[in-house]
Amino acid sequence: MTHRLKNTTAALRHGWHPVARSGEVADEPVAVRLLGDPWVIARLDDGLAAFADRCPHRLAPLSAGRVDARELVCGYHGWRFVASGDCTAVPALGPGVPAPKRAKATPPWGVVERHGLIWLAPAEPFTDLIEIPEADEAGFDSVWLEPSRSSACAGLLADNFLDTAHFPFVHADTIGAGEDTIVGPYRVTQDGDGFVVQMEQRVANPEDPKVATGDHPLVQRRWSTYVYRPPFMLRLRLEYPDAGMINTIQFCLQPEDAGSTRIYTRLLRDDLGGDAARRAEAARFEQAVLDEDLALQERFDLDGLPLIAADGDPAEEVSIRADAAGVALRRALASLVDQAARLPATGSGRSAGGRDRPLTAARRTEFRRTKIR
Ligand code: FES
Ligand SMILES: [Fe+2]
Repeated sequence: MTHRLKNTTAALRHGWHPVARSGEVADEPVAVRLLGDPWVIARLDDGLAAFADRCPHRLAPLSAGRVDARELVCGYHGWRFVASGDCTAVPALGPGVPAPKRAKATPPWGVVERHGLIWLAPAEPFTDLIEIPEADEAGFDSVWLEPSRSSACAGLLADNFLDTAHFPFVHADTIGAGEDTIVGPYRVTQDGDGFVVQMEQRVANPEDPKVATGDHPLVQRRWSTYVYRPPFMLRLRLEYPDAGMINTIQFCLQPEDAGSTRIYTRLLRDDLGGDAARRAEAARFEQAVLDEDLALQERFDLDGLPLIAADGDPAEEVSIRADAAGVALRRALASLVDQAARLPATGSGRSAGGRDRPLTAARRTEFRRTKIR
């Protein structure tokens, strides 16, 4: 059976999702949305905490409260919660009176801070966070774009990021100017739970300063390496061996609701030398490229990314050789949906914070055996 992966597909609960930039969560609780559910993020007693955004008392949004003495205080009746979700005080009962047993804020399976983002996994994730090696390498400038929002689903946006055949058409005013429409053969290799795409192209590189001086040709070799980790973590490393430049793009997606995806884009470049004007120009150019993509993606009348089932059922779309990366994405996400479907029925409930049953060692082994084909 073929089906589409929507922003609210329950299987996505078993993945790490970015929910905020690190700097967006400071002294106050922050409301975020993920897979159609509300969550609150706050910095509490022993670090970062996340809860379903409903107080266990009268289900008020905890994000409407505040952080006081490193505890989250509900704005309605002042119940206080620590990072584990335990309630430490119920003002209406008086000081020293213990809270009712069920008075516990509901945490997700996990919340972590990495790569400049806060990540949340509602249920035990099938896959690890993506690695961004350039972030730890000397000489790389890190440049963030302001997060964007699109009405397109995360699956379509991830597919768009992996697609190269659209450059001369969608990006005729930016990176696609003068690009060959032919997409040569390229390699897709399975890599852990995701895959790696490698291709070599000849492209215009106007950002090489030596092009203007005539020392380097405008059209140069470019080695592109896409790294994909399910569900929506991507890294693209562009190496220009003639210019000696490396430009990496970290692209991660937050499926907020059925019609809303938040997009986090970061550039890691070794050719900017910390120059403020060049950093700003790099961000402006990348934003222009992204805006071209988003203008088309939000015109799609599709509620989800069509998947390609492992059983060989015909897909909804027509794919050609140039679409090999997108086909790999559709298969990887279909595999994630399959894995979730094999969990016990109680294990993939939809409610925010409904904690899935922890996996036994035997089940973990089974997941390792049934990794993406
Ligand atoms: S609803 Fe939160 S304390 Fe009453
Ligand atoms: Fe694009």
